[in-house]
Amino acid sequence: MKKILLLGDVHANYPALKAIGQYIKPDRFDRIVNTGDFTVYSTFPNETIQWFRKRKKTICILGNTDRKILRILKGKKLKKPKKNEKRVMYFWTSENLLAENTGYLKALPEKADFTVDHFRIGVFHGTLEDPDEELFPTDPAGRFQQLAKDSPYQIQIMGHSHVPYYKIVDGVHFINPGSVGRMFDGDPRASFAILKISSEKIAVEHFRIPYGVEEAVKDLKEQKLPGIYAKMFRIGKKLN
Ligand SMILES: [Fe+2]
Repeated sequence: MKKILLLGDVHANYPALKAIGQYIKPDRFDRIVNTGDFTVYSTFPNETIQWFRKRKKTICILGNTDRKILRILKGKKLKKPKKNEKRVMYFWTSENLLAENTGYLKALPEKADFTVDHFRIGVFHGTLEDPDEELFPTDPAGRFQQLAKDSPYQIQIMGHSHVPYYKIVDGVHFINPGSVGRMFDGDPRASFAILKISSEKIAVEHFRIPYGVEEAVKDLKEQKLPGIYAKMFRIGKKLN
Protein backbone atom coordinates (compact mmCIF):
# COMPACT_ATOMS: atom_id res chain seq x y z
CA MET A 1 0.00 0.00 0.00
CA LYS A 2 1.18 3.53 -0.86
CA LYS A 3 0.40 6.43 1.47
CA ILE A 4 0.25 9.97 0.15
CA LEU A 5 -0.03 13.03 2.35
CA LEU A 6 -2.24 15.72 0.82
CA LEU A 7 -1.66 19.33 1.88
CA GLY A 8 -2.62 22.66 0.37
CA ASP A 9 -3.38 26.32 0.97
CA VAL A 10 -0.90 26.61 3.83
CA HIS A 11 -0.82 30.40 3.32
CA ALA A 12 2.40 30.82 5.32
CA ASN A 13 0.76 29.50 8.48
CA TYR A 14 3.75 27.51 9.67
CA PRO A 15 2.35 26.82 13.17
CA ALA A 16 -0.49 24.89 11.45
CA LEU A 17 1.89 23.02 9.12
CA LYS A 18 4.20 22.19 12.01
CA ALA A 19 1.27 20.76 14.01
CA ILE A 20 0.38 18.44 11.13
CA GLY A 21 4.01 17.35 10.86
CA GLN A 22 4.06 16.48 14.55
CA TYR A 23 0.74 14.66 14.29
CA ILE A 24 1.47 12.34 11.35
CA LYS A 25 5.25 12.00 10.85
CA PRO A 26 5.48 13.14 7.20
CA ASP A 27 8.61 11.12 6.40
CA ARG A 28 6.57 7.93 6.58
CA PHE A 29 4.66 8.87 3.43
CA ASP A 30 5.57 7.72 -0.06
CA ARG A 31 4.71 11.15 -1.42
CA ILE A 32 3.77 14.58 -0.07
CA VAL A 33 1.53 16.66 -2.31
CA ASN A 34 1.01 20.40 -1.95
CA THR A 35 -1.73 21.96 -4.09
CA GLY A 36 -0.22 25.45 -3.81
CA ASP A 37 -0.68 28.78 -2.02
CA PHE A 38 2.40 28.40 0.19
CA THR A 39 2.38 32.13 0.82
CA VAL A 40 0.39 35.17 2.04
CA TYR A 41 -1.95 35.87 4.95
CA SER A 42 0.36 34.64 7.67
CA THR A 43 3.94 35.57 8.51
CA PHE A 44 5.91 32.37 7.98
CA PRO A 45 6.43 32.03 4.20
CA ASN A 46 10.09 31.07 4.62
CA GLU A 47 9.48 28.40 7.27
CA THR A 48 6.60 27.02 5.18
CA ILE A 49 8.64 26.75 1.98
CA GLN A 50 11.63 25.32 3.84
CA TRP A 51 9.43 22.59 5.34
CA PHE A 52 8.72 21.37 1.79
CA ARG A 53 12.21 22.08 0.45
CA LYS A 54 13.92 19.86 2.99
CA ARG A 55 11.71 16.85 2.18
CA LYS A 56 12.13 14.35 -0.60
CA LYS A 57 9.29 12.91 -2.66
CA THR A 58 7.29 16.13 -2.65
CA ILE A 59 4.99 17.13 -5.49
CA CYS A 60 4.35 20.85 -5.14
CA ILE A 61 2.68 23.36 -7.43
CA LEU A 62 2.10 27.11 -7.34
CA GLY A 63 -1.16 28.68 -6.24
CA ASN A 64 -2.54 32.09 -7.15
CA THR A 65 -0.97 33.82 -4.12
CA ASP A 66 2.45 32.38 -5.00
CA ARG A 67 2.11 33.50 -8.62
CA LYS A 68 1.23 37.01 -7.46
CA ILE A 69 4.24 37.14 -5.15
CA LEU A 70 6.52 36.15 -8.05
CA ARG A 71 4.94 38.88 -10.20
CA ILE A 72 5.52 41.53 -7.50
CA LEU A 73 9.15 40.41 -7.20
CA LYS A 74 9.54 40.85 -10.96
CA GLY A 75 8.50 44.47 -10.50
CA LYS A 76 4.97 44.12 -11.89
CA LYS A 77 2.12 46.15 -10.43
CA LEU A 78 -0.34 44.42 -8.12
CA LYS A 79 -3.75 45.17 -9.65
CA LYS A 80 -5.74 42.73 -7.52
CA PRO A 81 -6.58 42.30 -4.69
CA LYS A 82 -7.96 45.78 -4.18
CA LYS A 83 -8.54 45.58 -0.43
CA ASN A 84 -5.79 47.31 1.47
CA GLU A 85 -5.46 44.65 4.18
CA LYS A 86 -4.80 42.02 1.51
CA ARG A 87 -2.30 44.21 -0.35
CA VAL A 88 -0.39 44.80 2.89
CA MET A 89 0.01 41.04 3.29
CA TYR A 90 1.23 40.59 -0.30
CA PHE A 91 3.81 43.35 0.01
CA TRP A 92 4.96 42.17 3.44
CA THR A 93 5.47 38.67 2.00
CA SER A 94 7.36 39.86 -1.07
CA GLU A 95 9.66 41.95 1.13
CA ASN A 96 10.35 39.15 3.60
CA LEU A 97 10.78 36.15 1.33
CA LEU A 98 14.38 34.91 1.22
CA ALA A 99 16.00 34.68 -2.21
CA GLU A 100 16.52 30.92 -1.89
CA ASN A 101 12.79 30.46 -1.27
CA THR A 102 11.85 32.73 -4.14
CA GLY A 103 14.11 30.57 -6.29
CA TYR A 104 12.29 27.46 -5.12
CA LEU A 105 8.89 28.95 -6.01
CA LYS A 106 10.14 30.09 -9.41
CA ALA A 107 11.07 26.53 -10.30
CA LEU A 108 7.63 25.10 -9.44
CA PRO A 109 5.02 24.25 -12.08
CA GLU A 110 1.37 25.35 -12.05
CA LYS A 111 0.17 21.75 -12.27
CA ALA A 112 1.72 18.33 -11.89
CA ASP A 113 0.98 14.66 -12.35
CA PHE A 114 2.38 11.38 -11.15
CA THR A 115 1.54 7.71 -11.19
CA VAL A 116 1.01 5.34 -8.29
CA ASP A 117 0.48 1.70 -9.21
CA HIS A 118 -1.64 2.07 -12.34
CA PHE A 119 -3.44 5.22 -11.19
CA ARG A 120 -2.60 8.52 -12.88
CA ILE A 121 -2.95 11.40 -10.48
CA GLY A 122 -3.27 15.07 -11.45
CA VAL A 123 -2.50 17.91 -9.05
CA PHE A 124 -4.09 21.32 -9.63
CA HIS A 125 -4.56 24.51 -7.64
CA GLY A 126 -8.03 25.28 -9.03
CA THR A 127 -9.05 22.61 -11.53
CA LEU A 128 -7.68 20.69 -14.49
CA GLU A 129 -9.01 23.43 -16.76
CA ASP A 130 -8.38 26.60 -14.78
CA PRO A 131 -5.88 27.24 -11.96
CA ASP A 132 -8.15 30.03 -10.64
CA GLU A 133 -11.42 28.07 -10.59
CA GLU A 134 -12.85 27.53 -7.12
CA LEU A 135 -14.51 24.13 -7.13
CA PHE A 136 -16.86 23.42 -4.24
CA PRO A 137 -18.40 20.08 -3.32
CA THR A 138 -21.82 21.75 -3.66
CA ASP A 139 -21.19 22.78 -7.29
CA PRO A 140 -23.51 21.19 -9.86
CA ALA A 141 -22.78 17.55 -10.69
CA GLY A 142 -22.44 18.67 -14.32
CA ARG A 143 -19.24 20.57 -13.56
CA PHE A 144 -17.66 17.49 -12.01
CA GLN A 145 -18.85 15.41 -14.98
CA GLN A 146 -17.16 17.86 -17.38
CA LEU A 147 -13.92 17.61 -15.43
CA ALA A 148 -14.19 13.82 -15.38
CA LYS A 149 -14.89 13.56 -19.12
CA ASP A 150 -11.80 12.47 -21.02
CA SER A 151 -9.74 13.02 -17.85
CA PRO A 152 -6.38 11.29 -18.20
CA TYR A 153 -6.35 11.13 -14.41
CA GLN A 154 -8.26 8.68 -12.26
CA ILE A 155 -7.53 10.95 -9.31
CA GLN A 156 -7.67 14.77 -9.39
CA ILE A 157 -6.27 16.56 -6.34
CA MET A 158 -7.21 20.22 -5.96
CA GLY A 159 -7.03 23.16 -3.56
CA HIS A 160 -8.04 26.83 -3.81
CA SER A 161 -11.65 26.62 -2.50
CA HIS A 162 -10.31 25.75 0.98
CA VAL A 163 -13.15 23.24 1.38
CA PRO A 164 -12.19 19.67 2.24
CA TYR A 165 -14.07 17.04 0.19
CA TYR A 166 -13.88 13.71 -1.57
CA LYS A 167 -16.22 12.85 -4.42
CA ILE A 168 -16.28 10.12 -7.03
CA VAL A 169 -17.93 11.24 -10.27
CA ASP A 170 -17.97 9.04 -13.38
CA GLY A 171 -15.11 6.99 -12.01
CA VAL A 172 -12.85 9.98 -11.26
CA HIS A 173 -11.84 10.62 -7.66
CA PHE A 174 -11.90 14.34 -6.79
CA ILE A 175 -10.06 15.25 -3.62
CA ASN A 176 -9.55 18.58 -1.90
CA PRO A 177 -7.59 18.24 1.36
CA GLY A 178 -8.90 21.61 2.63
CA SER A 179 -6.64 24.39 3.83
CA VAL A 180 -3.77 23.81 6.23
CA GLY A 181 -3.60 27.42 7.34
CA ARG A 182 -6.63 29.49 6.37
CA MET A 183 -10.00 27.90 7.02
CA PHE A 184 -13.28 29.46 5.96
CA ASP A 185 -15.86 27.17 7.56
CA GLY A 186 -15.83 28.38 11.16
CA ASP A 187 -13.53 25.59 12.34
CA PRO A 188 -10.07 27.10 12.89
CA ARG A 189 -8.25 23.76 13.01
CA ALA A 190 -5.74 22.77 10.30
CA SER A 191 -7.08 20.56 7.51
CA PHE A 192 -5.30 17.85 5.52
CA ALA A 193 -5.98 14.45 3.98
CA ILE A 194 -4.33 11.09 3.51
CA LEU A 195 -4.72 9.12 0.28
CA LYS A 196 -4.06 5.39 0.43
CA ILE A 197 -3.65 3.33 -2.72
CA SER A 198 -3.44 -0.44 -2.66
CA SER A 199 -3.63 -2.49 -5.88
CA GLU A 200 -7.25 -1.81 -6.86
CA LYS A 201 -8.37 0.34 -3.96
CA ILE A 202 -8.37 4.05 -3.26
CA ALA A 203 -9.14 5.35 0.23
CA VAL A 204 -9.24 8.96 1.39
CA GLU A 205 -9.39 10.22 4.94
CA HIS A 206 -9.67 13.86 6.01
CA PHE A 207 -8.33 15.25 9.29
CA ARG A 208 -8.78 18.44 11.30
CA ILE A 209 -6.28 19.07 14.05
CA PRO A 210 -5.76 21.94 16.49
CA TYR A 211 -2.59 24.02 16.21
CA GLY A 212 -0.97 27.00 17.92
CA VAL A 213 -3.28 29.71 16.58
CA GLU A 214 -1.89 32.19 19.13
CA GLU A 215 1.61 31.63 17.77
CA ALA A 216 0.38 32.83 14.36
CA VAL A 217 -1.54 35.72 15.92
CA LYS A 218 1.40 36.87 18.08
CA ASP A 219 3.70 37.16 15.08
CA LEU A 220 1.11 39.09 13.06
CA LYS A 221 0.92 41.60 15.91
CA GLU A 222 4.69 41.85 16.22
CA GLN A 223 4.95 42.59 12.51
CA LYS A 224 2.18 45.22 12.90
CA LEU A 225 -0.01 43.55 10.26
CA PRO A 226 -3.80 44.00 9.98
CA GLY A 227 -5.70 42.78 13.04
CA ILE A 228 -8.42 41.24 10.87
CA TYR A 229 -6.12 38.27 10.23
CA ALA A 230 -5.77 37.53 13.95
CA LYS A 231 -9.56 37.31 14.14
CA MET A 232 -9.73 35.11 11.04
CA PHE A 233 -7.23 32.62 12.43
CA ARG A 234 -9.04 32.49 15.75
CA ILE A 235 -12.51 31.85 14.34
CA GLY A 236 -11.57 30.07 11.10
CA LYS A 237 -13.64 32.32 8.86
CA LYS A 238 -13.03 34.51 5.84
CA LEU A 239 -13.57 38.11 6.86
CA ASN A 240 -11.60 39.98 4.22
FE1 LIG B 1 -5.67 29.56 -1.06
